[in-house]
Amino acid sequence: MRLKTLLALLLALTASAVLYAQQSLKTFSPSGYIQLETVLNNTGELQYRLLFKNKEAVGLSSLGLRLSTPAIELNRFSVVNIDSTSKDETWETVWGEDHRIRNNYREIAYLLQNKSSTPVKLRIVFRVFNDGVGFRYEFPQQDALHHFVVADELTGFAMTGDHKTFWIPGDYDTNEYAYYTSPLSKIDASGGGSAQEIHAKTFFDKNAVQTPLMMKSADGLYLNIHEAALLNYPAMNLVLDKATLKFHTQLVPDAVGNKAYLQTPAKTPWRTVLVSDKAPDILSSRTILNLNDPSVIGDSSWIHPQKYVGIWWEMHVGKSSWDYSGSQVGSQQATRVPHGANTANVKRYIDFAARHGFDGVLVEGWNTGWEDWFGQWKEDVFDFVTPYPDFNVQELSDYAKSKKVKIIMHHETSGSVTNYERWMDTAYRFMKRYNYDAVKTGYVGRIIPRGEHHDGQWMVRHFERVARKTAGYKIMVNMHESVRLTGLHRTFPNWIASEAARGNEFNAWSSGNPPEHETILPFTRLMGGPMDYTPGIFKIKMSYYDSTKKEQVHTTLTKQLALYVTMYSPLQMAADLPENYEANLPAFQFIKDVAADWEETRILDAEPGDYIITARKARGKDSWFIGAITDESARQFTTSLHFLDAGKTYIATIYRDADNADWKSNPEAYVVEKFVVTAKMALKLKLAPGGGTAISLLPATAAETKGIKKYK
Ligand code: NOJ
Ligand code: CA
Repeated sequence: MRLKTLLALLLALTASAVLYAQQSLKTFSPSGYIQLETVLNNTGELQYRLLFKNKEAVGLSSLGLRLSTPAIELNRFSVVNIDSTSKDETWETVWGEDHRIRNNYREIAYLLQNKSSTPVKLRIVFRVFNDGVGFRYEFPQQDALHHFVVADELTGFAMTGDHKTFWIPGDYDTNEYAYYTSPLSKIDASGGGSAQEIHAKTFFDKNAVQTPLMMKSADGLYLNIHEAALLNYPAMNLVLDKATLKFHTQLVPDAVGNKAYLQTPAKTPWRTVLVSDKAPDILSSRTILNLNDPSVIGDSSWIHPQKYVGIWWEMHVGKSSWDYSGSQVGSQQATRVPHGANTANVKRYIDFAARHGFDGVLVEGWNTGWEDWFGQWKEDVFDFVTPYPDFNVQELSDYAKSKKVKIIMHHETSGSVTNYERWMDTAYRFMKRYNYDAVKTGYVGRIIPRGEHHDGQWMVRHFERVARKTAGYKIMVNMHESVRLTGLHRTFPNWIASEAARGNEFNAWSSGNPPEHETILPFTRLMGGPMDYTPGIFKIKMSYYDSTKKEQVHTTLTKQLALYVTMYSPLQMAADLPENYEANLPAFQFIKDVAADWEETRILDAEPGDYIITARKARGKDSWFIGAITDESARQFTTSLHFLDAGKTYIATIYRDADNADWKSNPEAYVVEKFVVTAKMALKLKLAPGGGTAISLLPATAAETKGIKKYK
């Protein structure tokens, strides 16, 4: 007993912010494994360093900002005051990977005064969590500084070795790149800007990459750099100095080259570094969410996770068109295909959704403007309230209601955000009139106001405005071509998903997403929040639709099923055509059964770029689901079911690759097997090249398990 008390005392002492040397402070995470060192050097520069279990994870790195109006460098300081505090609380999510999240950190905050002729006060706040650190700049209200323009942020991230890095080129407009894997020293983004079939890209430096950036050091540390709570500020890109392996920050500029226009009191987003010696810890981290503010939505009962189908993939595979005239968007081709969003076809999807228990039916191409769309950089293209003549809004609204299904609205802005902002209220009122409660927005093409970028402050403010305004109308929103996510779904839980990365759609009409893609995305893009990846494609090869086509989905069929568990989103599409599901009901059953909202999540095993095995428990239920995916290599795993309720018996339905399956040569071959299992068992998983296994684990009574074999 006494020893325990003594130990606790010792721990408390070493773990708090201890004055180490005159100029250097150490702040330990509650667990003691993570150590942040903040150092004020002789010239007044404040720098930080991060250690994990005494190993250096981030070397001594710079902090500060450069303002242009007034012109001041904020990087030489005298310390006014240092505060430290800590927090340990648990909060409930509206929806999410976990029902309850623990927010446990130690904080140290420096109040600094700039050493220039115009002394300005700046706070730098650090929070040290058990899996990493977050820090941000805060500008208190003060006489010396009211309005100001940020010219550059001087935050650095010094890497301590030539880490294996999963990166996409830095870009001001798009994150829809396929990932590159290379040592830091071999990053070369110059080729990355070409041949990736992306409509609007603004590549700016061959040494620039985007966050979330995932790295692995030679001695087995997993590192992830990103940001949290990106509001009223541009997104951060990282530019590597290859000689020193230090990253510096490159904020996305506006049309005249400025980065951010702020007024005191103001604060930047949090810069985050996550670190662990276990890859699953990165995926399990909730630090980015914890650094975001609680929900601003009081009554969130109208927000509901859901699965949906839609008039969507049929356009992407070229079977129908968005455009009423039947021409394919973006092509001058003479061959016409039917207009997809016609009343009869929408009813067919509504029937399908109702029959199989889906909540939503997305309909794209319902409104006028598509004939005028694509690459024009034209201001007025869509009005968001005028349907094509063959889309009967009232009739479909009534029909959907009678079938207890909701149509999901689609607003393609064509990048003309000025136009969209003029229409927003009218468009949301139109939605309410016809009983829509969710909208998918899109920002394909270059932004208007011309010269603005998708990831600049102007657009970041627009995305926030959309989140707030839709919330005011009790509308859920899913944003495509938005800025990368930074955990803002905690604050705006009606912002239920975004695309903001290379989605499954690329497999329909481009070189596509290589088999490793989905083993990287959870470590990168999804660190910031849910992605509308649109999994569930059963017809893998596009030659099925047109024998001249070479494109294909780069996975097996059962990997598409596993993605419902791997790729977290409260909004999950069953993206393939109804007829492809009807022809494959045994596999479709998994999509019908899988949950979209979770009580808890366990990352059972993972290695970025190679494989991920995820288990999740359905929220408010006793059922569990497992998704296991691999890259282009076949892999085998033994997966323990220890997380199941010890007292219960479950029926495991295993959807696996057939023995001869292969993403390239035989992608649609699968086997469905049922077994009786308990928490004491372990399952042997065999994943084909580019393959995956999906498993549902539903608690069962003795009567229900009759005739089903025990797993051996
Ligand atoms: C790109 C989006 O990602 C896709 O889902 C949508 O169908 C098209 N834009 C058209 O808006
Ligand atoms: Ca897109």
